Amino acid sequence: MHKGIERVLITADEIEEKVAEVGKKISEDYEGKKPIFVGVLKGCFIFMADLMRHVSIPCTMDFMSVSSYSGTSSTGAVKINKDLNQDIEGRHLILVEDILDSGVTLNYLKTYLQVRKPASISIVTLMDKPARRKAPVYADYACFDVPDAFVVGYGLDYNERYRNLPYIGILSPEVYSK
Ligand code: IMP
Ligand code: MG
Repeated sequence: MHKGIERVLITADEIEEKVAEVGKKISEDYEGKKPIFVGVLKGCFIFMADLMRHVSIPCTMDFMSVSSYSGTSSTGAVKINKDLNQDIEGRHLILVEDILDSGVTLNYLKTYLQVRKPASISIVTLMDKPARRKAPVYADYACFDVPDAFVVGYGLDYNERYRNLPYIGILSPEVYSK
């Protein structure tokens, strides 16, 4: 196990199996719809790369980058660092997130994109922390429900570290207290 990780929450094998299943399900549900997968950077990068290899229908991909202002969970303010550079009117969007926590980020993003009149917007997330939800936003596809603990790996970071771990781990409390 890597330094700073208290325990493995989801193994690489478990992730691989579940991501394949969700990719297959999305392919069935979106048959004939040519969806645009919109990855929310940076946390989505490994999940999206793996998920896309299990999507068997015609589709395209794009990315957005957003950041939360400090104290975001109370204000709900989200900054758009990189927007989509294509017209999405009448298109089916699938937002790809690493983790749905308070829901503030995705709630903002959904409202922000809705103005451009896509045919639909759905959410696929690697992890869902339902206990932490503040904004009314729900995942259409969630690979794993996780407890209220800070998790890292498989794209998720703590201060930009640990994104490279092949599994999802719970961070040791001594890491944040440093
Ligand atoms: P929300 O707006 O509170 O739903 O926050 C979503 C974002 O916060 C995610 O996309 C992650 O970047 C980050 N985040 C929330 N919980 C965790 C965690 O346990 N580990 C790492 N990042 C997290
Ligand atoms: Mg994120």
